[in-house]
Amino acid sequence: MREMSKNSASEPGDVIQHGKGVAYTMGRLTRKMEFGMICDLLIIGGDGDLAFRKLYPALYHLDLDTCLPSCLRVVSVSRTPTPPGGFAQRVRERFDAFTKGKEVDEEVWKRFAKRLIHMPLNATNEAELAKLRNEVFTDTKRDLIVYLATPPAIFAPICQSLWAVGLVRDNMRIVIEKPLGHDRESFLQINENLKALFKEEQIYRIDHYLGKETVQNLLTMRFANALFEPLWNTHYIDHVQITAAETVGAEGRWQFYDEAGALRDMVQNHLLQLLCLVAMEPPSSLSPSAVHDEKLKVLRSLVPMSRRDVEENTVRGQYVAGTSGGQPVPGYTQEAGAKPQSSTETFVAIKTEVRNWRWTGVPFYLRTGKRMQQRFSEIVVQFNEVPHVLFGEQMRASSANRLVIRLQPEEGIRLQLLNKVPGLDDAQPLETVSLDLSLSDAFTNRRVPDAYERLLLDVMRANSTLFMRADEVEAAWEWVDTIAAGWHSVKQRALPYVAGSWGPSESIALIARDGRNWQE
Ligand code: BG6
Repeated sequence: MREMSKNSASEPGDVIQHGKGVAYTMGRLTRKMEFGMICDLLIIGGDGDLAFRKLYPALYHLDLDTCLPSCLRVVSVSRTPTPPGGFAQRVRERFDAFTKGKEVDEEVWKRFAKRLIHMPLNATNEAELAKLRNEVFTDTKRDLIVYLATPPAIFAPICQSLWAVGLVRDNMRIVIEKPLGHDRESFLQINENLKALFKEEQIYRIDHYLGKETVQNLLTMRFANALFEPLWNTHYIDHVQITAAETVGAEGRWQFYDEAGALRDMVQNHLLQLLCLVAMEPPSSLSPSAVHDEKLKVLRSLVPMSRRDVEENTVRGQYVAGTSGGQPVPGYTQEAGAKPQSSTETFVAIKTEVRNWRWTGVPFYLRTGKRMQQRFSEIVVQFNEVPHVLFGEQMRASSANRLVIRLQPEEGIRLQLLNKVPGLDDAQPLETVSLDLSLSDAFTNRRVPDAYERLLLDVMRANSTLFMRADEVEAAWEWVDTIAAGWHSVKQRALPYVAGSWGPSESIALIARDGRNWQE
């Protein structure tokens, strides 16, 4: 990394001194990222699965792309003692295990390892945190980011201790992960505890789906292209489908998952956030409040589910033994440590509507499940048929235009069009073909960053656009609570589906009743 004078031309990886912050260029990206020059990241629960699986790899990759402030320290605290070979070595071992031997730049790793500090301590204990403050966080001018990679049950005592030892200050930000409550009431309780100590703009509530490259690109696609916006409404769109299908089961997370189920684990956050980005009005800017305000309006326009709606328009499922990737897998209640009588849903399908000027009359079908046939997350925007049929019944039979935004496994955008099959056939046969934009083909030299890279970087830059504001989370719970309450009152059971299938047949019937089908 070389320091540049203001006027010289920048090259990949150069750092340009720039007023009070530092502007970085990332690879050939010209976008400048400014953030406080001096900053520390404290990860509480730094020896846990989230930290090893997501946070350290993301930080290493940010370092590789020269996106980290040069003096950033990454301080991990947990109750586990520092391992004999040192903490950095442990991070490296886990990193190698998760990345399955992908190439590591040893020079960058050395730089990254120097940033890591591990302090074995109990973060709910004020005396132990005070020691950390006295030994490590002595300079109050350094921005401090505290990442709570811990179960939410101990958010409150940790925050209380942080406050008691003076680590809560204006240049401090706190990052929290879901589950943010079990329902609206419990969320409000968590939030009250946070609000007593932090300002809203200091709280970064992560939904990692918002950090995914294609999710961000959804805003670009909608608002940087003139093509879609005039058609993006009830007059031209027939329906929208949002699917997040996974092949994994609950497995080692069974206990946690059983408390939540698919509705709370996936719909309340990831699927509703995607729905917001599809349905929101153009914000006046990309500032956090402009974007959050528009998403909130969408959530408040979701039609609350009556008891009858719940019966007609939702499907709950639970996987039973089947196969995944050609291997036999147990059913949900046969997983290790499972309760045999659990009725938690591992699949949910919902038909809903955003009742506002733009969307009334357009059904939104949401679907998510574990142990599905294939892993993919996708948004499908199905356009209406043309008003007058020129090309015979085969045109009706073929599906109309469809925009498919694929989040994973391979990110891309596909626009489905009807095309004439070349040839002299009088019947003029038509076929559906796709304009295909695969991100990896279009941007061959670019690595698609993991969601956590974007989100960690944004916290350092104090940009909360891709995080959730408290009122959004509350509104999402309010709607989800109507479904949970409906299920409870009609005693809707979780229908069995075979692991490795597309969920209960009732989910196919849910959409087929409207003359439509899931895109798979
Ligand atoms: C998490 C859920 O938020 O998202 C998990 O708790 C789920 O149950 C995961 O597996 C899915 O994330 P991704 O990025 O793999 O789609």
